[in-house]
Amino acid sequence: MGRGLTVRRRDAPPRPVALTVNGIRHEVAISPDVPLLYALRNDLALNGPKFGCGLGECGACTVLLDGAPARACVLPCSHAEGRRVTTLEGLGTVEAPHPVQQAFVDEQAAQCGYCLNGMIMTATALLDRNPDPSDGEIRQALRFNLCRCGTHIEIMAAVRRAAHLVRARAGAA
Ligand code: FES
Ligand code: FES
Repeated sequence: MGRGLTVRRRDAPPRPVALTVNGIRHEVAISPDVPLLYALRNDLALNGPKFGCGLGECGACTVLLDGAPARACVLPCSHAEGRRVTTLEGLGTVEAPHPVQQAFVDEQAAQCGYCLNGMIMTATALLDRNPDPSDGEIRQALRFNLCRCGTHIEIMAAVRRAAHLVRARAGAA
């Protein structure tokens, strides 16, 4: 049997890290160097953000940090302290889904579903700043979110539908 190579991270020692996630303040005893994704999934049981590549390249782990998309797999917990973290769970509920969540359901925009967290979070940030995006702007916003199943046509349709729902909701408010 070959001898395995063990690579150890040299993280700072654990300390209480204050994280405000979906409007709730938590204190997590963790090394501030550990990626936020680990704290969300392992300590706070928020499993919307997915572990895909772990390298900041696929987008499966996307959360919103002060409203902007961020890759939780490469974002140290210390960088989220004092900031507003939103996960998929913070957008809406089963009873009252966020328009983007509703649109993805309506368009059945999923195959395996692994990319959907990142697609939905990134689309939400896009529509927050631009509720009437062109197809080119949608593609531009999602260009670094990878879907290995090739669901791009349905995802585009879902974001267009979500934009319509967002505008209709704003008009009704
Ligand atoms: S898991 Fe974070 S970008 Fe791929
Ligand atoms: S639906 Fe499978 S990766 Fe996008």
